[in-house]
Parts: sequence; structure tokens; C-alpha cells
Amino acid sequence: MSVMLYEGKAKKIFATEKADEVVIYYKDDATAFNGLKKGTIVNKGIINNKLTEFFFQLLEKAGVKTHLIKRLSDRELLCKKVDVLPLEVVVRNIAAGSLSQRLGLPEGEWLAEPIVELYYKNDSLGDPLVNYYHIKALSLASPAQVAVLEKEALAVNGALTEHLLRKGIKLVDFKLEFGLHNGEILLADEITPDTCRLWDAATDDKLDKDRFRRDLGQVEDAYHEVLYRLTGEKE
Ligand code: TMP
Repeated sequence: MSVMLYEGKAKKIFATEKADEVVIYYKDDATAFNGLKKGTIVNKGIINNKLTEFFFQLLEKAGVKTHLIKRLSDRELLCKKVDVLPLEVVVRNIAAGSLSQRLGLPEGEWLAEPIVELYYKNDSLGDPLVNYYHIKALSLASPAQVAVLEKEALAVNGALTEHLLRKGIKLVDFKLEFGLHNGEILLADEITPDTCRLWDAATDDKLDKDRFRRDLGQVEDAYHEVLYRLTGEKE
């Protein structure tokens, strides 16, 4: 039995025999609104595990360095161990969610150019939006690190937007997390329908966790559809 290092809302992290490698196990648990809403999305763990492998492999080919080493099983990825930076990086192409609420932009309106936002990763505070001044004052990351996060996030956006559109999916927005491994910044965590807004390009049907957040139904179908369109796999 390997030692569990951490249990998050959607994943567990286990130690391996190598000090600088971990196993990330994907659960079916779903939460929203900072854990206030709880539920299960059947087999989400399998789908999100396979989608993160798919996206991270695609991004490695596009020159983005990630923590992925390889997929071990339906629900497990072997990854480089990182110290996660306390910033969540959101990129938006189309207005939705908290951006629409904050700035009064109708959901679905294309933005003139992608918007990058930084949030302080702190559950007890509800992950507040921060700017460069907050980041410096709270020593959350150095200016050079922030510049890397923004550049990498836009590179991810470029690579994923194009690929997803070819599969009939609009990449509305997404959230990334990064970590330090031997001083190097690596893309970490996951890229899945939990952390992206994905809309069918023809109908604008939601194919992501907003179906769970907003009680829209057919949550599992949406996750399966994304996996199928991207990998051809049913599960
Ligand atoms: P937002 O519009 O609610 O700020 O969400 C922006 C994007 O970030 C959206 O694709 C969903 C993702 N996200 C997470 O991955 N985790 C979170 O805790 C939140 C609030 C959003």
C-alpha cells in the first residue's frame, strides 16, 4: 500500500518508491461553488484521467512542459512530483461564468482577444481574483514566474483551441495550475471538462461541468461525448 500524500476534491495523490514521482488517482466525486454542492459523476475519474493524458501529450508536442510521465491505469497517472504554485491561471476566449457576472458581458460573446486571469489558490478564501500587486505583496510568485505562467497559458490556449475546433468543440475558457520541479515550471493538475468550458461548436450545447453546476442533466453523456470526439474511446 502506498502512502496517500494528499486528497483533493477530485483526485488523490500517492507517493511512489521514487521521491520525485507521484501517482495521481482520479475520483468520480464532483463539487461546485467551493465544495458547497457535492455529487458524483459516474466514471468521471476514468474519463478525466484519459483526457488529461490526451491533452498533456498534445501539449508536450506543442512545446509545453507538463508533469505527466505516463498513464498507469484507467484512473491513475504517473507524474513528476511538483510544488504547486498558489495561483490558478484562467484563460477566456468567450464570455461566460464569473467574467459575465463581474463585467456584465452576455454569455457566449466572443472576446476581442483572450483574457488571462490569475486567482489566489486558497479554498478558505474561495480562490479570489488577484493582480500583480497582490501577487507581489503576498509573495505568491515572482514577476518572472508570473510571466512564464501567462506565456504558457496562452500557448496552451492556442494549441487546444485549434485542436478542439477541429473536433467541433469551442474552448470557451479553462483553468490551469502549475508546479515547480527542480526549479522548472511544469503544467500540472488536469485539463478536463471539470476545468474547462467546452461548447458544441454547432449548437453551443454545454459539454462540461456547468451541466453539474447548473443542474442541466445528462452530465455523464457530456463527459463521454468529449472523450469520444477527442480519442474515439467510449470510456
Ligand atoms: P469561472 O467563470 O467560474 O471563473 O470559471 C472559469 C473557468 O475555470 C471555467 O472553465 C471553470 C474553471 N474553474 C475551475 O476549474 N475550478 C474552479 O474552482 C472554478 C471556479 C472554475
